[in-house]
Amino acid sequence: MKKYKLGFIGYGNMAKAIIGGILKSGILDKSQIALSDPASKDSDGIFCTNDNDYVANNSDYLFLSVKPQVFKSINFSCTADCVISIMAGTDSAYIGKKLNMQGKVIRVMPNTPAQIGMGVAAIAVNGLDKKHNDFCKSIFDSVGQAYFIPEDKFDAVTCVSGSGPAYVYYFADAMIKGGIENGLDPEISKTLALGTIIGACEMIKAHPEIPLETLIQNVCSKGGTTIEAVRILERDDVCKTVVDAMTACRIRSEELGKEQ
Ligand SMILES: NC(=O)c1ccc[n+]([C@@H]2O[C@H](COP(=O)([O-])OP(=O)(O)OC[C@H]3O[C@@H](n4cnc5c(N)ncnc54)[C@H](OP(=O)(O)O)[C@@H]3O)[C@@H](O)[C@H]2O)c1
Repeated sequence: MKKYKLGFIGYGNMAKAIIGGILKSGILDKSQIALSDPASKDSDGIFCTNDNDYVANNSDYLFLSVKPQVFKSINFSCTADCVISIMAGTDSAYIGKKLNMQGKVIRVMPNTPAQIGMGVAAIAVNGLDKKHNDFCKSIFDSVGQAYFIPEDKFDAVTCVSGSGPAYVYYFADAMIKGGIENGLDPEISKTLALGTIIGACEMIKAHPEIPLETLIQNVCSKGGTTIEAVRILERDDVCKTVVDAMTACRIRSEELGKEQ
């Protein structure tokens, strides 16, 4: 057993969110965590150094939360039992080879709502044992929901949950603009649009047995108003546009993976 249970290389936005979840849910306390980050940062009572080697050799689990390009440019040795990486587009084989930790790398694809405890994360376990996999899952469950998904599906995961928050923000922005275009004050339009998106998502969650098509039909009474809006969405095949956008995202993720 090492001095720290969990060491972080990189203490930025995602690391802060994840540590917040870990502490809040009581998985670890501050004394079990070590951070390595170049500038001396306000680490809120958690041990912080700029020595990557020290953290990577004094932690049972090493968490890689630097930008992928930073990871490529730095070198340090690692004797952790297990490496957990959240770096986008950086596969576990590359990480394992660089750190001489082949077969000991868990790759995770989180998303930004983890910063408010509402993230969705895919975890590729790559043959590690249940103890390591379950510990990793508990970390990401502490900032949302985590699912075991094979790494060869990560480009598809990227186009759904990794990049997905941007599509929702885009749709929210469009709804707000639609409200303004049709006579509402910007603030009122924003309040109504965001409240509607959150309420509709909660309806989907509350009624998993109802197909989405039925939920749409339930709002579209014959001769009514909603059906006119949905008719335009279908005329312009907005569904196909969304699917095409996600395919472009998946292809770009594959390309980035090949560039490493
Ligand atoms: N944000 C997301 O939504 C999201 C989603 C999925 C995956 N990810 C992945 O999560 C990782 C972190 O993203 P982030 O948004 O948290 O980035 P970030 O806020 O930039 O955090 C990275 C941290 O690493 C520090 N750092 C730079 N060079 C370092 C070095 N040589 N050794 C140790 N630390 C170093 C940075 O310090 P300075 O700021 O001083 O340079 C910064 O504090 C990325 O690999 C990204 O691909 C992020």
